[in-house]
Amino acid sequence: MKDKLIIFDTTLRDGEQSPGASMTRDEKVRIARALERMKVDVIEAGFPAASQGDFEAVQAVADAIKDSTVCGLARALDKDIDRAGEALKGARSSRIHTFIATSPIHMQKKLNMTPDQVIEYAVRAVKRARQYTDNVEFSPEDAGRSEEDFLCRILEAVIDAGARTLNIPDTVGYSMPQQFGATIANLIQRIPNSDKAIFSVHCHNDLGLAVANSLSAVMNGARQVECTINGLGERAGNASLEEVVMAVRTRQDFFNCDTGLDAREIVTCSKLVSSITGFPVQPNKAIVGANAFAHESGIHQDGVLKNRETYEIMRAEDVGWTTNRMVLGKHSGRNAFKTRMAELGVDFAGEAELNDAFFRFKQLADKKHEIFDEDLQALISEQGFEAEDEHIKLVALKVCSETGEVPNATVTIRVGGKEMTGCAQGGGAVDASLKAIESLVKTGATLALYSVNNITNGTDAQGEVTVRLENAGRIVNGSGADTDIVIASAKAYINAVNKLQSPDQRQHPQKGDV
Ligand code: KIV
Ligand code: ZN
Repeated sequence: MKDKLIIFDTTLRDGEQSPGASMTRDEKVRIARALERMKVDVIEAGFPAASQGDFEAVQAVADAIKDSTVCGLARALDKDIDRAGEALKGARSSRIHTFIATSPIHMQKKLNMTPDQVIEYAVRAVKRARQYTDNVEFSPEDAGRSEEDFLCRILEAVIDAGARTLNIPDTVGYSMPQQFGATIANLIQRIPNSDKAIFSVHCHNDLGLAVANSLSAVMNGARQVECTINGLGERAGNASLEEVVMAVRTRQDFFNCDTGLDAREIVTCSKLVSSITGFPVQPNKAIVGANAFAHESGIHQDGVLKNRETYEIMRAEDVGWTTNRMVLGKHSGRNAFKTRMAELGVDFAGEAELNDAFFRFKQLADKKHEIFDEDLQALISEQGFEAEDEHIKLVALKVCSETGEVPNATVTIRVGGKEMTGCAQGGGAVDASLKAIESLVKTGATLALYSVNNITNGTDAQGEVTVRLENAGRIVNGSGADTDIVIASAKAYINAVNKLQSPDQRQHPQKGDV
């Protein structure tokens, strides 16, 4: 019988700490639902003490999720623990994750505390967290650069105080796989009460070693890995969930543990996170990159046609790449649409939501002959975006782009019940359109990112546009999809402005008061 490897996903917390990867409360809930469908064991939903918005986002995830444990992060401070405990009240299964730094440089320069004081804070935090839940995790931050003797002392103390998961973070991505694995083995062996806790790892990717370090730890006794979809995360990111899960699954001859994940949900989850955060997935990214299963060279193609195992160690469909992706068309009915959506994990809240989605599907099918799963997902993403306080709506857009002339755009939007029209010139059709919208909404925000990705192939493919706006410490991502990328851009800009002006006053965690 193999051990269970617990998958702790921190896309919504550490992932959101990537510069610009902010998510609204509703977006966090949508990603959490996708993670739950994938059977992720623990979902770290945020850092409730960071801001009122983050508190509410964790609360919303805790209320929505039934099958995964929902976790909130807290510094080793009473006020943080209480906020986390409060935010997680509605969860069917909750965990509080508390941390304090243990490396000499962090203790001296950041905390200005002695090692004994750090232990005192850690123990107090764990005991306080235990008043809210039996499921308490402790992390010695910057463990990768901490002294092993000190780690043994503090970890023994927090186990005695009631911590049941000990997470060893390589906070700055400094460790080497062999060394990190040895540290895990030593801690498990040296800490007298180590059998009362599960050892976990949390690796950052500064040297590109986050997955290698995590797997080395697993080989040395770690039974929880903290990771993120697409490897999103602070700086160079965290260990990528899909790579860890598929490495362990593909090399079952090597690992004496496995996860309980439904890997067929991986690609859907990856696309959802990418479209919400506006962080595209590089084509050659393992597992979820568009080329991860594509064979270009003749020799490879020939080999795969004769026997796919000549060049493939995993099956694309096992991680959610569908081979027959053309699912619906102009003549498909409401039932076929609803059925395919259910297969993609989309449940409509009621008839009105289904009707709205079906109407949009028909509109798209008029413009685009073949509708793929990716188109359906974009459709739902858009519906999700619009559901969130879509105070401003795009009514009409006319652009004039001609060789030798300055492009200009005329845009009509509805703000509340009132229609307004604005015109602007720009360097191109997109620039003119966004300037025309800005002349009406006057956000004064900085455009931090503009990106276009084609959702499927062909010149009739939908373009998915992401726009990132930053204003007074708030960072928001807007998305829009359309077969016309100028319209997609206008939708994305309006979507971002709606978020910027929404009452959900969540600041990006990096801009919060923590
Ligand atoms: O990288 C890190 O140390 C963290 C901790 C809060 C676990 O994210
Ligand atoms: Zn981290």
